[in-house]
Amino acid sequence: MALERMRIVGGAPLRGEIEIGGAKNAALPLMALTLLTPQSCRIQNIPDLQDVSTMVEILSALGVKVARKERAIEIQAETFNKTEAPYDFVRRMRASVLLLGPLLGRFGYARVSLPGGCAIGVRPIDQHLKAFEALGAEIQLSDGYVEAKAARLQGANFRFELNTVTGTANAIMAASCAEGVSRFENCACEPEVSLVAETLVAMGAKIRGIGTSTLEIEGSRELGGFDVPLIPDRIETGTYLVAGAITNGELFLRGANASHLQAVIEKLRETGCTITEDPAGIRILGRRPIRPVQLETAPFPSFPTDMQAQLLALLCLADGESHIQETIFENRFMHVSELMRMGADLSIKGSVATVKGVSRMEGANVMATDLRASACLVLAGLAARGVTEVLRIYHLDRGYERMESKLSAVGADITRVQEST
Ligand code: EPU
Repeated sequence: MALERMRIVGGAPLRGEIEIGGAKNAALPLMALTLLTPQSCRIQNIPDLQDVSTMVEILSALGVKVARKERAIEIQAETFNKTEAPYDFVRRMRASVLLLGPLLGRFGYARVSLPGGCAIGVRPIDQHLKAFEALGAEIQLSDGYVEAKAARLQGANFRFELNTVTGTANAIMAASCAEGVSRFENCACEPEVSLVAETLVAMGAKIRGIGTSTLEIEGSRELGGFDVPLIPDRIETGTYLVAGAITNGELFLRGANASHLQAVIEKLRETGCTITEDPAGIRILGRRPIRPVQLETAPFPSFPTDMQAQLLALLCLADGESHIQETIFENRFMHVSELMRMGADLSIKGSVATVKGVSRMEGANVMATDLRASACLVLAGLAARGVTEVLRIYHLDRGYERMESKLSAVGADITRVQEST
């Protein structure tokens, strides 16, 4: 893989319109969901992202038919040559663990490599496995793999010990083909989970409580196909809202759904931005000075961990001191030391980052270790004086479609360059 970096000359206020794409974190579970039926499934508005391509590769390796048609993807899991996801895929994308629920539900057998930790935290999957066990599956861990078996899953009651997004998606996918009714409590309520539940309903499952933390699922042996559009990516939206704010510009984010990111909008308003919500999208008008804020990440509908790094970039330029507490992942401040190299005044104590606003940041060469931290560094680069180069942008390509062309269309000086040049 040729290493590429993003070269940004900061300082230009961004003005214009950005089209928001389909949500990555909805695309991945919906692609896994197609494994529950032999019928054809279609997902519209699919973003062109590395994680989506990895999921295509995984499904194709299972023997499933996958065809991309412009902005849609058609998947038909009629024939299979295996029900197993090897380490080589799972190490590239943790979300491969989403195959467990559908494969176990439909075939009574799944073998998926254990994902292991990643840059932002240890990220165990114990809750996924406990939910499967509650449904009657026998789980074995050996040679770095999870092997799940069940003659036929049985509906059951299960309470998640903590909020897990993919854990909830996995459990409801499995329960949708179990015999009888399942009741899951303390479920994640993220909009992506609701889309999974609504799609399962379109396939023939009966689900009550969608959008709440208690989901009741009546399984069905024969789930049918579906044809659904993805919801807009709320984290892409939030990232470009910050781009408008940090450059003191004015952006309209076409297709964005404000109801999916109220906590982010609220915090940005607290920093002083003017944000208008309308049915076609969201408009942001940056303001100076940027006011400091206090924030804590928490599951939906609270402030998302996936927006913590981007907001932190903005607060580096605030007029005063902000505190950010990260409560979801234990190691999600990797961007802090890179921002300090750009002149930000930051310190971390446990799970809290203290951000003392500075009047400006300076361009530097920086490197991130995960997707959202990389986005944060691009945002900082857009506002910094001089040239910033963000290295290892393959992280960005996992979750942001054509970021440099979307940003340059609204006035950013940003180019993708080969690392060797
Ligand atoms: N956790 C456990 N046990 C489990 C499951 C989770 O201890 O069985 C812990 C995790 O270690 C973490 C917390 O619970 O501390 C929440 O993890 P969750 O399971 O909700 O995260 P996830 O489902 O693996 C999804 C998104 C992430 C996003 C988180 C939190 C997808 C594909 N990924 O991950 O997205 O940060 O929810 O909202 O939906 C990203 O897009 O950059 C990204 C990392």
